Amino acid sequence: MKLIFLGAPGAGKGTQAQNVCKLLSVPAISTGSIIRDAMKSGTEAGLAAKEYVEAGNLVPDEMVIKMLQDRIALPDCKNGYILDGFPRNLPQAQALDRMGIIIDMVVDIEVPDDIILERLVGRRICEQCGAGYHITHKPSAKGDKCELCGGPLITREDDTPQVVRDRLKVYHDQTEPLKDHYHAAGKLAVVAGTGDIGDITKMVMAVLGA
Ligand code: AP5
Ligand code: MG
Repeated sequence: MKLIFLGAPGAGKGTQAQNVCKLLSVPAISTGSIIRDAMKSGTEAGLAAKEYVEAGNLVPDEMVIKMLQDRIALPDCKNGYILDGFPRNLPQAQALDRMGIIIDMVVDIEVPDDIILERLVGRRICEQCGAGYHITHKPSAKGDKCELCGGPLITREDDTPQVVRDRLKVYHDQTEPLKDHYHAAGKLAVVAGTGDIGDITKMVMAVLGA
């Protein structure tokens, strides 16, 4: 099964992808995580991406398309995957088409802008494995360490109030039009992204018919 999780920054794409990928036994692929790993390792692509990410802008299409192509070529993707944060604009959606990739369904997770800020300012991620937490909505059972790998929990550099506002603007201007694109293709399913995290996972599984 090949899925796209669409939604504003902080809508819960990563949180739901972590849950659903276990239930469907396919990998969750976050272009944001791939870019952050590249920034951390100091690769050429990572250094080039840094200024865009820190300003809340999209990284240039050719760079992120290459990263995605390399990732989905790995053997664990042979039975499908969940794309979290890709495509982010129409040219990226068209790149998927050109690669001959048939997407089964696009799950659009809807959360109002006023809830996003509180979510992102309270988010923590594992510096080691990238797992996501929230200081009140999803605290780690191991305090300031990751439940999965024991790595330290940190705040993402783009989770400051100003950068969150800039990311929301980019989302509304460039990513939200993809809803019409996938609706016209008969592939869009909309899920309300507010409420209990486990209940939302059940709703996502229900729209997938899984
Ligand atoms: P990316 O990492 O994709 O960030 P994003 O889209 O801004 O989304 P987030 O990861 O911030 O939010 P999320 O929806 O995953 O929410 P989460 O589950 O963490 O991209 C970062 C940057 O990389 C971009 O700005 C861009 O520069 C670049 N980039 C990435 N992909 C690109 C592309 N394709 N093209 C170009 N550039 C690209 O949840 C948020 C918080 O809320 C967490 O703390 C979570 O615990 C909590 N939470 C989740 N669900 C709930 C709930 N139901 N109730 C309460 N709290 C909840
Ligand atoms: Mg995410």
